Amino acid sequence: MTAVGIDAIEIWTGNLKLDLPGTFAPQKGEDPEKYTKGLGLNASSFPDSYEDIVTMGANAAHRLMDRKGLEPDDIGRIDVATESSFDNSKPVSTYVAGCLEQVYDGDFHHANKGERKFACIAGTQSLDDAYNWIRAGRNRGRSALVIATDTALYARGDAGEATQGAGAVAMLISEDPDLVELSAEQGYGSADETDFLKPNQQFPSVDGKRSVQVYLARMREALEDYESVAGDVHLDDFAYAPFHTPFPGMVRKAALLAYRHVIRNTSVEDELADDIGRQPRAEAFDTDDEYRDALRDYMDSLKETDRYQEWYAEAIDPTLSISREVGNWYTGSVHIARVSALKEALEDGRDMAGERLLVGSYGSGAQAEIHAEIVQDGWEEEIDALNVDEQLAERYDMDWADYEEIHDAHNHEMDVDVEEFTTPSEEFVFDGWGRMGERK
Ligand code: CAA
Repeated sequence: MTAVGIDAIEIWTGNLKLDLPGTFAPQKGEDPEKYTKGLGLNASSFPDSYEDIVTMGANAAHRLMDRKGLEPDDIGRIDVATESSFDNSKPVSTYVAGCLEQVYDGDFHHANKGERKFACIAGTQSLDDAYNWIRAGRNRGRSALVIATDTALYARGDAGEATQGAGAVAMLISEDPDLVELSAEQGYGSADETDFLKPNQQFPSVDGKRSVQVYLARMREALEDYESVAGDVHLDDFAYAPFHTPFPGMVRKAALLAYRHVIRNTSVEDELADDIGRQPRAEAFDTDDEYRDALRDYMDSLKETDRYQEWYAEAIDPTLSISREVGNWYTGSVHIARVSALKEALEDGRDMAGERLLVGSYGSGAQAEIHAEIVQDGWEEEIDALNVDEQLAERYDMDWADYEEIHDAHNHEMDVDVEEFTTPSEEFVFDGWGRMGERK
């Protein structure tokens, strides 16, 4: 069967940067290490006053089409995944197509356009939709463009303010992909939850601590469901495990949970037993609380073992390098985790062709998905073509007053005009609600 997967990927960061330990923490009267060590974040990306989800998505898509030598006729489907949509009728993909049609001779009249929403997991759901569309033979030889784009802003003073971010990831889904093949098997954990939601409001209502627990619960269910269709997960089978990264500290918790689940009843658990004992089994305890306490103690010990720390350093830490500098990109977040890992592999001169990735996506509300990917022969060229480091380095570093101004400027309930902090250069710029971005 012909492989179907991600042929190419491009990233577009918001053009502004907020230094979390240097600018945000002192202003809040907090220890900078809460950010660097606790949450695992150095900085967040923000959109300048001329940027929004459309311009960032269109800029990422344009870079991708340009680099791959594509014309609109090559694209049969455009899906935008976002939880920052501003139009309850027209999908964001129509605005993005409108931008792109300014710079190509052809148009996207015969492409199926849509918008996917399920919080941060919608980017992965759009990949799945594109995969299914191609597998069903409905693509007429054309590829799908999937764009995950968000401005992840929280109300000022909300605990989530520390984990903001803004950026877009554009992905081309094709047969015979150059980057990764997507697996046919997926596992899901899904339940109606209300810890993070935005009913007719721009900024989320969040129960932050609970949202962390819901993420972990759904991810564990998705892993079990994945194993029920694909067989038991063996850690050695996967080079990296990119997870949805609202902030790297969240992935630290998810990785430990996944590790404990995967080593259960294996020789790894046996080998660790001399030092830290065996995993507690629920049936051995009289109450849930006693079981939970024993499990917490076991996890605390497991986290300190050399064996776990080596796995974490090899399979997880490399997935976090971009996220540390940009914060949460919601729908794009797991996709920058994949790029971070492959970028690090390229820098280390590692041969990744044929290696597998275990990808864990998550969206509040809440649903997790686990699937596998196989890295393809063209991965080096694809990752080498990215200019992520340059984009991050060129961001304007805001002071606190700049940050307050730009946050107000992006607040839909405030009517605030702000001067641009950066000068747009060959990119689409925001031109008012309901109008397409003009290219400057
Ligand atoms: N040195 C080192 N570490 C420190 C520290 C210091 N001086 N001070 C605090 N820390 C650690 C804390 O111990 C904590 O780590 P652990 O959780 O491992 O114990 C970490 O830094 C954060 O500290 P707090 O819990 O005190 O931080 P907070 O009260 O400001 O809340 C948060 C953190 C709940 C994540 C909040 O930022 C939030 O609500 N974020 C938005 C919601 C979110 O991202 N949820 C994630 C799951 S939902 C999801 O994934 C979907 C999505 O994208 C939103």
